Amino acid sequence: MTKLVLSVLVPLIYSHAFANPPLNEPISPIPEPIINSPRQVELGNLLFHDVRLSQNNQLSCASCHSLKYGGADGQKVSTGVNGSKGGINSPSVFNCSLNFRQFWNGRAADLLAQVSGPVNNPLEMNSSWPEVLAKLKQDPYYVEQFNQAFETGLSINNIKAAIVTFEESLLTPDSRFDLYLKNQPGAITAEELEGYTLFKQYGCISCHQGVAVGGNLYQRFGIMGDYFANRGDITPADLGRYQVTQNENDKYVFKVPSLRNVALTAPYFHDGSTKTLGEAVAIMMRYQLGYVSSEHDIHKIVLFLKTLTGQYRKKPL
Ligand code: HEC
Ligand code: HEC
Repeated sequence: MTKLVLSVLVPLIYSHAFANPPLNEPISPIPEPIINSPRQVELGNLLFHDVRLSQNNQLSCASCHSLKYGGADGQKVSTGVNGSKGGINSPSVFNCSLNFRQFWNGRAADLLAQVSGPVNNPLEMNSSWPEVLAKLKQDPYYVEQFNQAFETGLSINNIKAAIVTFEESLLTPDSRFDLYLKNQPGAITAEELEGYTLFKQYGCISCHQGVAVGGNLYQRFGIMGDYFANRGDITPADLGRYQVTQNENDKYVFKVPSLRNVALTAPYFHDGSTKTLGEAVAIMMRYQLGYVSSEHDIHKIVLFLKTLTGQYRKKPL
């Protein structure tokens, strides 16, 4: 008996006393999602992929936020119902619950405030909640599933709640970089670590930090140079926070985007102007930090950024 107890306890105590402590860094690992209602998550998953949320039954949320393409759509700007082009690049829905505000200009306070945006937007789904509810009510499967997942059954509020609950489950823990943060030996290579060191030394970390490596503050795009004058053709979407506040100081100010899974979400920036990660890093160096950086350093930083690709439901993205 004693032997049995010891054989269980000793490895347990050993692993606690001698496991490497997590590293103390300005980026922290993504936790596992907390799933209180698996039924609501699955219902939200169905709704997220259901074209009946759009006016002409052609588009689902996943049309512009494909879970197979890093949670975005790979296009410069998104295409809405009847082929209408939107004015801005689609961000990833993975880890969106970690953002302090939603949308590039932060106009939605949280995911519940965000979810009506695409449904009502004439350039996106061009529908309305009463229209969506009427369609879903005709489907006995949804009626049944909502009755099981919510006390109050199928309703507009519960449709929104299910989608939000699903979005909250879209965390991508266990990237190689997170394993490094958890002090797992060999999680990233020496070159990738060098890239992370450069990311800190250049000051990228002052804007892209925390659990999402971004997503927690607003900053101007073009602090050390006029990105927009150099690019040309200024659009309403370029005005950023100004669209929300009408405050001159908020012109060209955006939510700093999360860099989680960034290797999968080209093209880059709110204007979708930039095809490769290397070019995006060079633009950041120039316009946010005022450096003309060497190819060598950019390459290393890109190698680091690629270690930020995580896992969804235990599978690499
Ligand atoms: C036609 C393409 C399209 C469809 C359909 C669409 N989205 Fe989006 N989504 C976008 C674009 C483009 C943005 C960025 C808009 C902006 O910031 O002004 C966005 C932004 C978001 C954001 C904010 C993410 C962030 O980092 O700020 C979330 C969350 C989101 N969408 C979820 C959804 C959900 C849920 C649905 C379905 C109800 C949906 N989207 C349908 C294109 C689309
Ligand atoms: C002063 C704040 C600030 C600094 C410093 C900064 N960034 Fe950014 N970063 C931003 C903002 C704001 C955006 C969004 C710009 C836009 O599209 O409007 C952004 C966007 C990006 C994107 C594109 C993400 C996407 O999904 O489109 C990448 C990649 C990126 N930054 C990497 C870096 C790297 C690497 C560095 C250091 C060399 C860096 N950033 C330094 C604020 C900053």
